[in-house]
Amino acid sequence: MIKLPDFPWDRLTPYKEVAQAHPDGIADLSIGTPVDSVPEVVRQALAAASDSPGYPQTHGTPGLRAAAAGWLARHHGVTVDPDNVLPVIGTKELVAWLPTLLDVRAGDRVIFPELAYPTYDVGARLAGAEPFASDGLVALGPERVPLVWVNSPSNPTGRVLPAGHLAKVVAWARERGAIVASDECYIGLGWEEQPVSILHPDVCGGSHEGLLAVHSLSKRSNLAGYRAGFVTGDPDLVAHLLEVRKHAGMIMPGPVQAAMTVALDDDAHAEEQRARYAARRSALRTALVSAGWRIEHSTAGLYLWASDGSGCWEQVRRLSESGILVAPGDFYGVAGKQHIRIAITATDERINAVVRRLQ
Ligand SMILES: Cc1ncc(COP(=O)(O)O)c(C=O)c1O
Repeated sequence: MIKLPDFPWDRLTPYKEVAQAHPDGIADLSIGTPVDSVPEVVRQALAAASDSPGYPQTHGTPGLRAAAAGWLARHHGVTVDPDNVLPVIGTKELVAWLPTLLDVRAGDRVIFPELAYPTYDVGARLAGAEPFASDGLVALGPERVPLVWVNSPSNPTGRVLPAGHLAKVVAWARERGAIVASDECYIGLGWEEQPVSILHPDVCGGSHEGLLAVHSLSKRSNLAGYRAGFVTGDPDLVAHLLEVRKHAGMIMPGPVQAAMTVALDDDAHAEEQRARYAARRSALRTALVSAGWRIEHSTAGLYLWASDGSGCWEQVRRLSESGILVAPGDFYGVAGKQHIRIAITATDERINAVVRRLQ
């Protein structure tokens, strides 16, 4: 049996119970789940496509692929052929299965950041490979490395990797024949810094060889419940993924394909959602700093990466007594043991409650 890590969220339960006992209720900032409504245009598209008796295409409809390519060009200066877009059933699914789908083998190392979304580790294990958390590629020996994950803006730190940094990762990987998979889940949520895609010409020199970019609509369009994302990049790699996913039945439902097409074509709802997050972030940031927390990185994305200098569990405990639940930094790697991750994805009413309680 494959040994998977313990599901870390279970360890938060005692603190959740303390926070729930607060007279004004819990303010749960421990997970980055959207709380605002699904945009009306997207709901209408889903409803209009609900009479969908036949099998959908694994490759997605031509309209969906064109919408994804159009969105990348409009917002991120990236040009892809719509044929090289492949929808995924939420990007967590792809992150968890990518090493397996790419034939990463037992004994291979899958590299991901020292502080990282836990599913990169899980994906390596599902393929029987060795998960290897490292920010210093240069320190790695001459061994075969099939796959390197990058994640900018980062979950959990909100750190943005500049184009020059990403270009070095690409050059390193190309020298060794490694694939770089870039998880760009938060790319549309730059605040003090603007994130850049691995597929941008400034990073990859205009060639997508050996590169994959993974995009989620969960945060941009409040579609976490629909399970909507896509992967694009190297045409040969995308064709391989398509072939395996066809055989394996990894198909995005037809009505979700229709909804995602409209979501990608519509920028107005995404701008509104960004403005909501900007206001919540600013209120939380100010309140945390006044209460003695130092915020690090966090120039983009949906999290504040903070420390008051004590251990992460002590900070979780302290906040839980004010009815505020946050995630301990060590969920994301040992380097996070003195930090907490605060999600800005709560309602305005709950964010205001947090601000009051921190005063
Ligand atoms: C870095 C990162 N990648 C991928 C995902 C998965 O997103 P989804 O499966 O909703 O597309 C998340 C979710 O929070 C994330 O933080």
